[in-house]
Amino acid sequence: MTKSHAASSGLLLLLVSCAGNSGDPGPSGDGPTYYQDVAPLLAGSCSGCHVEGGVAPMALTTPESAQQRAPAIAAATAARLMPPWMPGGDSPAMHNDPRLTDAQIDMLQRWAQAGAPLGDAANAAALPAPKVVDIGAPEVSVDTGHDYVPDSRLRDDYRCFVVDLGLTEARMVTGLRITPGNRAAVHHVIVTAYVAADRAALEAAQGQDGRPGYQCFGRSEPPGMTPQGFPQMLGAWAPGASALKQPEGTGAPLEVGQVAVIQVHYNLRAQGVTQPDRTRLELAFAPKGTESTLRETMTIPVADPQLNIPPGAVDHVEEAALTADAWSGGFFTFFFGPNGLDIVGLTGHMHMLGKHFVLTRTRAGQTTTLLEIPRWDFHWQNGYQPVQSIDIRSSDVVTIRCVYDNTSERREAGGFLSPMGEVNWGEGTEDEMCLAFLQVARRTAP
Ligand code: HEC
Repeated sequence: MTKSHAASSGLLLLLVSCAGNSGDPGPSGDGPTYYQDVAPLLAGSCSGCHVEGGVAPMALTTPESAQQRAPAIAAATAARLMPPWMPGGDSPAMHNDPRLTDAQIDMLQRWAQAGAPLGDAANAAALPAPKVVDIGAPEVSVDTGHDYVPDSRLRDDYRCFVVDLGLTEARMVTGLRITPGNRAAVHHVIVTAYVAADRAALEAAQGQDGRPGYQCFGRSEPPGMTPQGFPQMLGAWAPGASALKQPEGTGAPLEVGQVAVIQVHYNLRAQGVTQPDRTRLELAFAPKGTESTLRETMTIPVADPQLNIPPGAVDHVEEAALTADAWSGGFFTFFFGPNGLDIVGLTGHMHMLGKHFVLTRTRAGQTTTLLEIPRWDFHWQNGYQPVQSIDIRSSDVVTIRCVYDNTSERREAGGFLSPMGEVNWGEGTEDEMCLAFLQVARRTAP
């Protein structure tokens, strides 16, 4: 309700600001101006994507580009469509939340309504330094090994590349940096570690269709492959991100012989992408000998695999609720110890028909939201780190709830080729999933 209200008031402001633009140059003096107020905001919150060669369709890095787009900037920020950020509803506070404050949104409204005045260039406010996450010196630096040209016959090309991490001893990952080679083509990247026993099957899948790597969708292993170990998501990159650090005091363990799969999503819908990409992965490790001082993190899945989404369904709900012990096959305490777990990272996962995602914990009749994505968009997936870790005990009930639309409009928007029908769990683009990955660490005290 609040969201649709925000969206419609955004539209209203768009109309108002268009009217304001028509003749009146706007008052000069105390109102916000480009050089004093708007440029620093755009530099800090927008130009990670809205830059020449960036993922967004237009740059917002010059006075002319911002001025020309003022009504659209005011509307997109008032509707909270920009900057993109998926967690909402009752989600806990997350690290790296890019959302603008009400005061910032209001400032952009007033600026657009006043005709987007530039102000005094000689007196320009300093632009903020780009937000950079310092992971320390990486010890692994590998790329996909190919100058990969995305498949122009697809609207979205999901390509997986297996990379050797060259580990001769066990290490703990403390930081990760993913650097796309071609920012105009790469929409997002997910890096997953597989055990040495999975290596042969992963490598065999590469090049089968005459192109480097293999096609993958929704997961990082090739269709049909059942991993022998538990794949561990190491991290993800989305436009605007710099690098990712493990939460303080934790590390993600890697064994000798483990390989990583770099899954790259190339978006071919926006611009005709023909330039090659070679995405790079860098890993920083805990100094040798300090590993025992860190808590190990691991990725555990929570899924509702019994999906029956009827043809034409609107707001179809699939929900699974089990205790943490039942999710762990009755081995919660055996695996994780008597004190339970801390959730330090969360990812939700559905496909194209997904609409609303909620993951909750219920303890003694009290329900806490772990992650809520009220406006699911397959193309904006990421992992999120709660500012305050959330603990899970053996008897807590963890509920995953996924809402879908299986309407013809929704299928068309998702690029479906098959005729209308029931949709079930599966790996294909036209199948669905209802899945969460929790990055967890054992609790050392109750
Ligand atoms: C994470 C990358 C990213 C960030 C950060 C970002 N944008 Fe965008 N923006 C996009 C992309 C991509 C599009 C194209 C539409 C889409 O894919 O949703 C877009 C579209 C837009 C549009 C056009 C929307 C429309 O259809 O009218 C405006 C205006 C805009 N952004 C403004 C901003 C402003 C202002 C900021 C900062 C406050 C910002 N964006 C931050 C990626 C980003």
